[in-house]
Amino acid sequence: IIEDVQVRKILDSRGNPTIEVDVKTWGGYGRAAAPSGASTGSREVVSFPEGGVDLVVSEMEDLIASELIGMDACDITTIDEVLREIDGTDNLAAIGGNTTVAISMAVAKAAAASYNMPLYQYLGGSMVNELPYPLGNMMNGGAHAGVNAPDIQEFLVVPIGASNMVEGIFANASIHKRLKELIQSKDSAFTGGKGDEGGWVPNITNADALEIQSKACEEVGDELGIEIRPALDMAASELWDGNEQKYIYAQDGIKRDTGDQIDFVKDIIDTYNMFYVEDPFDESDFEGFAQLTAKVGDKCLVCGDDLFVTNKELLAKGIEMNAANAIIIKPNQIGSLSETHATVKLAKENGIVPVVSHRSGETTDETIAHLAVGFNSPMIKTGAIGGERIAKLNELIRIEEELPNPRMGKF
Ligand code: PGA
Ligand code: ZN
Repeated sequence: IIEDVQVRKILDSRGNPTIEVDVKTWGGYGRAAAPSGASTGSREVVSFPEGGVDLVVSEMEDLIASELIGMDACDITTIDEVLREIDGTDNLAAIGGNTTVAISMAVAKAAAASYNMPLYQYLGGSMVNELPYPLGNMMNGGAHAGVNAPDIQEFLVVPIGASNMVEGIFANASIHKRLKELIQSKDSAFTGGKGDEGGWVPNITNADALEIQSKACEEVGDELGIEIRPALDMAASELWDGNEQKYIYAQDGIKRDTGDQIDFVKDIIDTYNMFYVEDPFDESDFEGFAQLTAKVGDKCLVCGDDLFVTNKELLAKGIEMNAANAIIIKPNQIGSLSETHATVKLAKENGIVPVVSHRSGETTDETIAHLAVGFNSPMIKTGAIGGERIAKLNELIRIEEELPNPRMGKF
């Protein structure tokens, strides 16, 4: 039974305010914080009301607390419904999706604590034993970096040959180190600057970035004796110019229409043996996604982030159109844990790989590590270095230690 709900303003990794919530129950306590995006999808719920975190803390805390006090923390679905009722809008514009998601996650953690269970076990049951491969961020461009950086937003890697979490996490860290040297070989003026998610921000072309990304995977993979594959988040909604009907690659001085983009992405996947490509098309282009998935879906994960925004209805449309074979799961895109869970469930029932993910603006909250394990997601996207990223990675190391019979997830 919920005894108290407390809301406060805290810092995120970009220095912006975000919200943290403490929920107290008779037998437990839960704390969770909400992240925020930079390349947000247009169909995401609204993060905060006009007036921001300050308004939530000063005017809404009492109202929300008075509704939730006395409710059963184990009944997360009803609590999420009550939060939606308090808000009263479809896109959570009145109290903010970051407010509702932080409360929802804090309630779940309090419920787990009242059973003396870690959150992953509370969500996934006592049989959970699989850990997610860490999809690590190595180089940043686009909206997560400055001008002169590559147009592609995220150059990522997956240590797909890792036999355990610790090995995978440290393999990613080794690649990150190696890439610094490889960037310096292309750009002698490189000073080690990093983007929002801790990846390097090099002043090099997309082609050079792809080349050294793949070189780092091969070299470090050989040294460690495990397979490491490259991956991308193209965040193509940020490249798409609706007036020109083209994807604008400013760093390369190239414009591509949808057909060119399909060929370009397919060529990258073939050339570099990409394991995963996220948002290769604009968020409204289900058709472009479907065409690419038809061509490469048997050998590469084609993942929708801005396309689906963790929304069950949009995922259902994607399933019907065969638009993708993977989906990014970001609880604050949809505003509650129960809706997040419903989307994960629909994905799994249809053979779509759910990839639990951080946002570019993060806190040291570690909840998504538990969600990835509890939801049995075979991959987690949460950076490679930086305090707010290692908060999740190190929690996964602890979870691996706790599990009686841990293994890496299956795709
Ligand atoms: P965001 O970007 O958190 O800035 O939206 C991350 C992503 O596109 O995956
Ligand atoms: Zn993305």
